[in-house]
Amino acid sequence: MEDFVQANKLILLGKLTASLVHEIRNPLSAIKLNLDYMNMAKDDLPADIQEIVGESLDAFEQVNFLIEDILDFTRKPSAKTHEVDVEQVTDRCLKIISVSARMKGVTIEKHIVPELPKLSVNKNKMMQVFLNLINNAIEASQEKNKVIVRAFDEVEDRKQKLIWQVQDFGCGIKEDDKKKILSEFFTTKSKGHGIGLGVCKMLTEEMNSELIFDSTFGEGTTFSMKFTV
Ligand SMILES: Nc1ncnc2c1ncn2[C@@H]1O[C@H](COP(=O)(O)OP(=O)(O)OP(=O)(O)O)[C@@H](O)[C@H]1O
Ligand SMILES: [Mg+2]
Repeated sequence: MEDFVQANKLILLGKLTASLVHEIRNPLSAIKLNLDYMNMAKDDLPADIQEIVGESLDAFEQVNFLIEDILDFTRKPSAKTHEVDVEQVTDRCLKIISVSARMKGVTIEKHIVPELPKLSVNKNKMMQVFLNLINNAIEASQEKNKVIVRAFDEVEDRKQKLIWQVQDFGCGIKEDDKKKILSEFFTTKSKGHGIGLGVCKMLTEEMNSELIFDSTFGEGTTFSMKFTV
């Protein structure tokens, strides 16, 4: 089972880094050039060059954050649970995934109710589920479509629930496929592996949450995770 989760991470990581590396090259070479320049004149830096150095450092920081988020994601999840802020985890996922969204021409909107209760779950598992679901939403979308990520709370059977969901306006799921998509190795994509949702199902169960979806073929799909607070 652990191998299955790791395999999915590698697949996701492959997808994310392919676009990330593509985008990273330009800012990195700009930083390198500016830093070399600074190095040559470091004893006598005029204000404008100091500004360039500052900008380079900011750009470098940005790249660093991205790389750190990716590295954090590659770490094996332990059984450890954390007090997790759903908005924070969502933001980290959106930062990582923004590159592939931009390359596909898809915009992501975020609607998160402020001050939601913290959840006691494993952050890494939550991140892996969010990344798989957002990634599927982007893959299902057409250029110029939007994807909406939401989080809100509601009361169900007198219990407080926190709902995290991702809605797309893409291809939707055929009625016949609806019962198959959560099983392992079912895919309708030429380059798909059919393991993302299987891993999501397993990890949501491990987090004592529920994974549900609603889809209309040709209109779009919403995947929701329901946590008991
Ligand atoms: N948001 C969505 N819109 C439409 N179809 C979807 C969506 N999410 C999942 N599916 C369907 O469910 C199938 C299984 O998804 P799953 O994430 O398990 O595998 P995959 O995306 O095909 O490959 P990978 O293992 O690389 O994620 C997809 O091939 C697709 O047919
Ligand atoms: Mg997938």
